[in-house]
Amino acid sequence: MQIIKVWDLPVRLFHWLLVASIVALFITGKMDDAIALHGKIGVFVVGLLVFRLLWGFIGSTYARFLQFFPTPARILAYLKGEWHGLGHNPLGALSVFALLFLCALQTGLGLFSYDEISFHGPLAALIGDSLAVRLTGWHQTLAYVLLTFVGLHVASIVFYRFVKKHDLLLPMLTGRAEVPENVKPQPATGASIPALLLALAVAALALWAACGTWIPEPPPAAAVETPAW
Ligand code: HEM
Ligand code: HEM
Repeated sequence: MQIIKVWDLPVRLFHWLLVASIVALFITGKMDDAIALHGKIGVFVVGLLVFRLLWGFIGSTYARFLQFFPTPARILAYLKGEWHGLGHNPLGALSVFALLFLCALQTGLGLFSYDEISFHGPLAALIGDSLAVRLTGWHQTLAYVLLTFVGLHVASIVFYRFVKKHDLLLPMLTGRAEVPENVKPQPATGASIPALLLALAVAALALWAACGTWIPEPPPAAAVETPAW
Protein backbone atom coordinates (compact mmCIF):
# COMPACT_ATOMS: atom_id res chain seq x y z
CA MET A 1 0.00 0.00 0.00
CA GLN A 2 1.13 3.55 -0.70
CA ILE A 3 -0.29 6.64 0.99
CA ILE A 4 -1.11 9.70 -1.11
CA LYS A 5 -2.88 13.03 -0.67
CA VAL A 6 -6.47 12.97 -1.99
CA TRP A 7 -8.54 15.65 -0.20
CA ASP A 8 -7.09 19.14 0.22
CA LEU A 9 -7.65 21.02 3.49
CA PRO A 10 -10.37 23.36 2.08
CA VAL A 11 -12.51 20.36 0.99
CA ARG A 12 -12.15 18.74 4.41
CA LEU A 13 -12.88 21.97 6.29
CA PHE A 14 -15.86 22.57 4.01
CA HIS A 15 -17.24 19.10 4.70
CA TRP A 16 -16.97 19.18 8.47
CA LEU A 17 -18.22 22.78 8.75
CA LEU A 18 -21.19 21.79 6.55
CA VAL A 19 -21.91 18.77 8.77
CA ALA A 20 -21.76 20.91 11.95
CA SER A 21 -23.97 23.58 10.35
CA ILE A 22 -26.62 21.14 9.07
CA VAL A 23 -26.81 19.42 12.46
CA ALA A 24 -27.17 22.83 14.16
CA LEU A 25 -29.83 23.83 11.61
CA PHE A 26 -31.89 20.73 12.33
CA ILE A 27 -31.68 21.39 16.07
CA THR A 28 -32.42 25.13 15.88
CA GLY A 29 -35.14 24.57 13.22
CA LYS A 30 -37.00 22.39 15.71
CA MET A 31 -36.52 24.69 18.72
CA ASP A 32 -39.20 27.24 19.57
CA ASP A 33 -37.01 30.27 20.22
CA ALA A 34 -33.89 29.76 18.10
CA ILE A 35 -35.11 30.95 14.70
CA ALA A 36 -32.78 34.00 14.61
CA LEU A 37 -29.78 31.74 15.25
CA HIS A 38 -31.17 29.24 12.69
CA GLY A 39 -31.23 32.03 10.09
CA LYS A 40 -27.65 33.13 10.86
CA ILE A 41 -26.28 29.58 10.54
CA GLY A 42 -28.30 29.16 7.32
CA VAL A 43 -26.72 32.28 5.84
CA PHE A 44 -23.27 30.91 6.79
CA VAL A 45 -24.12 27.78 4.75
CA VAL A 46 -24.59 30.03 1.69
CA GLY A 47 -20.93 31.04 2.08
CA LEU A 48 -19.85 27.40 2.46
CA LEU A 49 -21.75 26.24 -0.61
CA VAL A 50 -20.57 29.09 -2.84
CA PHE A 51 -17.00 28.39 -1.72
CA ARG A 52 -17.39 24.69 -2.64
CA LEU A 53 -18.96 25.58 -5.98
CA LEU A 54 -15.90 27.60 -6.96
CA TRP A 55 -13.50 25.09 -5.43
CA GLY A 56 -15.11 22.51 -7.70
CA PHE A 57 -13.45 24.35 -10.60
CA ILE A 58 -10.26 25.82 -9.14
CA GLY A 59 -9.49 23.43 -6.25
CA SER A 60 -7.04 20.54 -6.29
CA THR A 61 -7.40 17.46 -8.54
CA TYR A 62 -10.03 15.36 -6.70
CA ALA A 63 -12.04 18.39 -5.53
CA ARG A 64 -12.88 19.29 -9.14
CA PHE A 65 -16.40 18.45 -10.33
CA LEU A 66 -15.23 17.37 -13.80
CA GLN A 67 -12.85 14.89 -12.17
CA PHE A 68 -15.71 12.99 -10.50
CA PHE A 69 -18.73 13.93 -12.62
CA PRO A 70 -20.81 10.72 -12.76
CA THR A 71 -21.24 10.19 -16.51
CA PRO A 72 -23.22 7.04 -17.53
CA ALA A 73 -19.98 5.51 -18.87
CA ARG A 74 -18.21 6.00 -15.52
CA ILE A 75 -21.17 4.63 -13.54
CA LEU A 76 -21.34 1.57 -15.82
CA ALA A 77 -17.60 0.98 -15.48
CA TYR A 78 -17.89 1.26 -11.71
CA LEU A 79 -20.79 -1.21 -11.58
CA LYS A 80 -18.77 -3.68 -13.71
CA GLY A 81 -15.88 -3.32 -11.25
CA GLU A 82 -13.73 -1.62 -13.89
CA TRP A 83 -13.31 1.74 -12.17
CA HIS A 84 -10.01 2.14 -10.34
CA GLY A 85 -9.81 5.87 -9.82
CA LEU A 86 -9.23 7.95 -6.70
CA GLY A 87 -11.52 10.47 -4.98
CA HIS A 88 -15.32 10.14 -5.10
CA ASN A 89 -16.31 7.00 -6.99
CA PRO A 90 -19.06 7.50 -9.65
CA LEU A 91 -21.86 6.28 -7.33
CA GLY A 92 -20.57 8.35 -4.42
CA ALA A 93 -20.41 11.32 -6.79
CA LEU A 94 -24.15 11.00 -7.44
CA SER A 95 -24.82 11.36 -3.73
CA VAL A 96 -22.31 14.23 -3.43
CA PHE A 97 -24.13 16.22 -6.13
CA ALA A 98 -27.53 15.35 -4.65
CA LEU A 99 -26.43 16.49 -1.17
CA LEU A 100 -24.92 19.74 -2.48
CA PHE A 101 -28.05 20.45 -4.54
CA LEU A 102 -30.45 19.71 -1.65
CA CYS A 103 -28.43 21.83 0.80
CA ALA A 104 -28.43 24.71 -1.71
CA LEU A 105 -32.17 24.41 -2.38
CA GLN A 106 -32.99 24.19 1.34
CA THR A 107 -30.83 27.22 2.11
CA GLY A 108 -32.28 29.15 -0.83
CA LEU A 109 -35.83 28.50 0.38
CA GLY A 110 -34.82 29.53 3.91
CA LEU A 111 -33.55 32.89 2.68
CA PHE A 112 -37.09 33.72 1.47
CA SER A 113 -38.92 32.27 4.47
CA TYR A 114 -41.52 33.75 6.79
CA ASP A 115 -42.61 31.90 9.92
CA GLU A 116 -45.94 33.78 10.19
CA ILE A 117 -44.93 35.09 13.62
CA SER A 118 -42.05 37.51 13.54
CA PHE A 119 -39.16 36.03 11.54
CA HIS A 120 -38.55 36.96 7.93
CA GLY A 121 -35.67 35.36 6.01
CA PRO A 122 -33.13 38.01 4.92
CA LEU A 123 -34.40 38.07 1.31
CA ALA A 124 -38.12 37.67 2.10
CA ALA A 125 -38.67 41.39 1.51
CA LEU A 126 -38.14 40.68 -2.22
CA ILE A 127 -41.33 38.60 -2.38
CA GLY A 128 -44.76 38.88 -0.77
CA ASP A 129 -45.62 37.26 2.57
CA SER A 130 -47.99 34.72 1.00
CA LEU A 131 -45.28 33.35 -1.33
CA ALA A 132 -42.80 33.41 1.58
CA VAL A 133 -45.17 31.29 3.65
CA ARG A 134 -45.52 28.82 0.77
CA LEU A 135 -41.74 28.57 0.37
CA THR A 136 -41.42 28.02 4.14
CA GLY A 137 -43.82 25.08 3.80
CA TRP A 138 -41.54 23.57 1.14
CA HIS A 139 -38.56 24.33 3.39
CA GLN A 140 -40.16 22.34 6.20
CA THR A 141 -40.86 19.38 3.88
CA LEU A 142 -37.49 19.46 2.12
CA ALA A 143 -35.76 19.25 5.52
CA TYR A 144 -36.94 15.62 5.73
CA VAL A 145 -35.82 14.83 2.17
CA LEU A 146 -32.38 16.21 3.06
CA LEU A 147 -32.38 14.19 6.28
CA THR A 148 -33.11 11.03 4.26
CA PHE A 149 -30.21 11.69 1.89
CA VAL A 150 -27.87 12.39 4.82
CA GLY A 151 -29.00 9.07 6.35
CA LEU A 152 -28.24 7.24 3.07
CA HIS A 153 -24.88 9.04 2.83
CA VAL A 154 -23.79 7.99 6.32
CA ALA A 155 -25.18 4.46 5.80
CA SER A 156 -23.11 4.06 2.63
CA ILE A 157 -19.94 5.22 4.43
CA VAL A 158 -20.64 2.55 7.07
CA PHE A 159 -21.37 -0.03 4.32
CA TYR A 160 -18.06 0.71 2.57
CA ARG A 161 -16.21 0.48 5.90
CA PHE A 162 -17.64 -2.77 7.20
CA VAL A 163 -18.82 -4.66 4.10
CA LYS A 164 -16.42 -3.52 1.38
CA LYS A 165 -13.58 -2.98 3.91
CA HIS A 166 -12.84 0.42 2.39
CA ASP A 167 -12.38 3.28 4.87
CA LEU A 168 -13.60 6.55 3.33
CA LEU A 169 -13.78 8.41 6.63
CA LEU A 170 -10.07 8.62 7.50
CA PRO A 171 -9.18 10.32 4.17
CA MET A 172 -11.94 12.91 4.79
CA LEU A 173 -10.23 13.61 8.15
CA THR A 174 -6.54 13.45 7.26
CA GLY A 175 -6.68 14.13 3.50
CA ARG A 176 -4.57 10.99 2.84
CA ALA A 177 -5.73 7.68 1.41
CA GLU A 178 -4.15 4.24 1.10
CA VAL A 179 -3.78 3.18 -2.53
CA PRO A 180 -2.88 -0.36 -3.67
CA GLU A 181 0.64 -0.73 -5.14
CA ASN A 182 -0.80 -1.55 -8.60
CA VAL A 183 -2.59 1.83 -8.85
CA LYS A 184 -0.48 4.65 -10.26
CA PRO A 185 -0.18 7.24 -7.45
CA GLN A 186 -1.47 10.63 -8.54
CA PRO A 187 -1.54 12.89 -5.50
CA ALA A 188 -3.92 15.86 -5.53
CA THR A 189 -2.29 18.95 -7.03
CA GLY A 190 -3.37 22.20 -8.56
CA ALA A 191 -4.76 24.20 -5.64
CA SER A 192 -3.04 27.54 -5.08
CA ILE A 193 -3.24 30.36 -2.55
CA PRO A 194 -4.61 32.85 -5.14
CA ALA A 195 -7.34 30.31 -6.06
CA LEU A 196 -8.19 29.90 -2.36
CA LEU A 197 -8.33 33.68 -1.85
CA LEU A 198 -10.55 34.09 -4.91
CA ALA A 199 -12.98 31.38 -3.71
CA LEU A 200 -13.05 32.93 -0.21
CA ALA A 201 -13.67 36.42 -1.61
CA VAL A 202 -16.57 35.25 -3.80
CA ALA A 203 -18.01 33.28 -0.84
CA ALA A 204 -17.79 36.43 1.32
CA LEU A 205 -19.61 38.40 -1.39
CA ALA A 206 -22.35 35.75 -1.52
CA LEU A 207 -22.64 35.88 2.29
CA TRP A 208 -23.11 39.63 2.11
CA ALA A 209 -25.73 39.27 -0.65
CA ALA A 210 -27.59 36.59 1.35
CA CYS A 211 -27.71 38.88 4.42
CA GLY A 212 -30.06 41.15 2.46
CA THR A 213 -28.70 44.37 3.97
CA TRP A 214 -28.58 45.80 0.42
CA ILE A 215 -32.39 45.63 0.10
CA PRO A 216 -33.77 49.17 0.49
CA GLU A 217 -36.05 49.73 3.49
CA PRO A 218 -39.71 50.00 2.42
CA PRO A 219 -40.94 53.61 2.53
CA PRO A 220 -42.69 54.42 5.84
CA ALA A 221 -46.46 54.00 5.66
CA ALA A 222 -48.19 57.29 4.84
CA ALA A 223 -49.17 59.07 8.06
CA VAL A 224 -52.88 58.88 8.71
CA GLU A 225 -54.23 62.28 9.50
CA THR A 226 -55.93 62.49 12.87
CA PRO A 227 -59.42 63.93 12.48
CA ALA A 228 -60.00 67.20 14.33
CA TRP A 229 -62.67 65.83 16.67
C1 HEM B 1 -25.26 16.80 7.62
C2 HEM B 1 -24.65 15.74 7.23
C3 HEM B 1 -23.73 15.61 6.03
C4 HEM B 1 -23.70 16.25 4.84
C5 HEM B 1 -24.65 17.35 4.35
C6 HEM B 1 -22.60 15.71 4.08
C7 HEM B 1 -22.23 16.09 2.80
C8 HEM B 1 -21.15 15.62 2.11
C9 HEM B 1 -20.67 16.13 0.87
C10 HEM B 1 -21.30 17.31 0.11
C11 HEM B 1 -19.59 15.41 0.50
C12 HEM B 1 -18.71 15.64 -0.71
C13 HEM B 1 -17.48 16.37 -0.22
C14 HEM B 1 -16.90 17.25 -1.29
O1 HEM B 1 -16.40 16.76 -2.30
O2 HEM B 1 -16.97 18.46 -1.10
C15 HEM B 1 -19.38 14.40 1.50
C16 HEM B 1 -18.38 13.45 1.48
C17 HEM B 1 -18.11 12.61 2.53
N1 HEM B 1 -18.76 12.57 3.74
FE1 HEM B 1 -20.36 13.63 4.27
N2 HEM B 1 -21.98 14.74 4.83
C18 HEM B 1 -22.64 14.67 6.03
C19 HEM B 1 -22.33 13.86 7.09
C20 HEM B 1 -21.29 13.00 7.13
C21 HEM B 1 -20.93 12.19 8.27
C22 HEM B 1 -21.67 12.17 9.62
C23 HEM B 1 -19.85 11.46 7.92
C24 HEM B 1 -19.10 10.46 8.75
C25 HEM B 1 -19.54 9.27 8.94
C26 HEM B 1 -19.52 11.81 6.55
C27 HEM B 1 -18.47 11.28 5.83
C28 HEM B 1 -18.15 11.62 4.54
C29 HEM B 1 -17.07 11.01 3.80
C30 HEM B 1 -16.15 9.91 4.30
C31 HEM B 1 -17.06 11.61 2.54
C32 HEM B 1 -16.13 11.26 1.37
C33 HEM B 1 -16.81 10.18 0.57
C34 HEM B 1 -15.97 9.69 -0.57
O3 HEM B 1 -14.81 9.35 -0.34
O4 HEM B 1 -16.46 9.66 -1.69
N3 HEM B 1 -20.42 12.75 6.10
N4 HEM B 1 -20.34 14.56 2.48
C1 HEM C 1 -29.42 23.82 4.70
C2 HEM C 1 -29.95 24.79 5.40
C3 HEM C 1 -31.15 24.64 6.30
C4 HEM C 1 -31.68 23.52 6.92
C5 HEM C 1 -31.17 22.09 6.88
C6 HEM C 1 -32.85 23.95 7.65
C7 HEM C 1 -33.65 23.11 8.41
C8 HEM C 1 -34.85 23.46 8.98
C9 HEM C 1 -35.68 22.60 9.75
C10 HEM C 1 -35.38 21.14 10.10
C11 HEM C 1 -36.79 23.30 10.10
C12 HEM C 1 -37.98 22.79 10.92
C13 HEM C 1 -39.00 22.20 10.01
C14 HEM C 1 -40.21 21.75 10.78
O1 HEM C 1 -40.87 22.60 11.40
O2 HEM C 1 -40.49 20.55 10.76
C15 HEM C 1 -36.64 24.62 9.55
C16 HEM C 1 -37.56 25.63 9.69
C17 HEM C 1 -37.35 26.94 9.32
N1 HEM C 1 -36.19 27.45 8.77
FE1 HEM C 1 -34.61 26.39 8.11
N2 HEM C 1 -33.02 25.29 7.47
C18 HEM C 1 -32.00 25.76 6.66
C19 HEM C 1 -31.77 27.07 6.25
C20 HEM C 1 -32.56 28.14 6.63
C21 HEM C 1 -32.30 29.52 6.31
C22 HEM C 1 -31.11 30.04 5.51
C23 HEM C 1 -33.32 30.25 6.85
C24 HEM C 1 -33.53 31.74 6.84
C25 HEM C 1 -32.54 32.60 6.86
C26 HEM C 1 -34.25 29.34 7.48
C27 HEM C 1 -35.45 29.69 8.08
C28 HEM C 1 -36.37 28.81 8.58
C29 HEM C 1 -37.71 29.18 9.03
C30 HEM C 1 -38.36 30.58 9.01
C31 HEM C 1 -38.32 28.00 9.47
C32 HEM C 1 -39.77 27.84 9.94
C33 HEM C 1 -39.90 27.99 11.39
C34 HEM C 1 -41.35 27.71 11.76
O3 HEM C 1 -42.25 28.27 11.14
O4 HEM C 1 -41.52 26.89 12.65
N3 HEM C 1 -33.75 28.05 7.33
N4 HEM C 1 -35.45 24.70 8.88
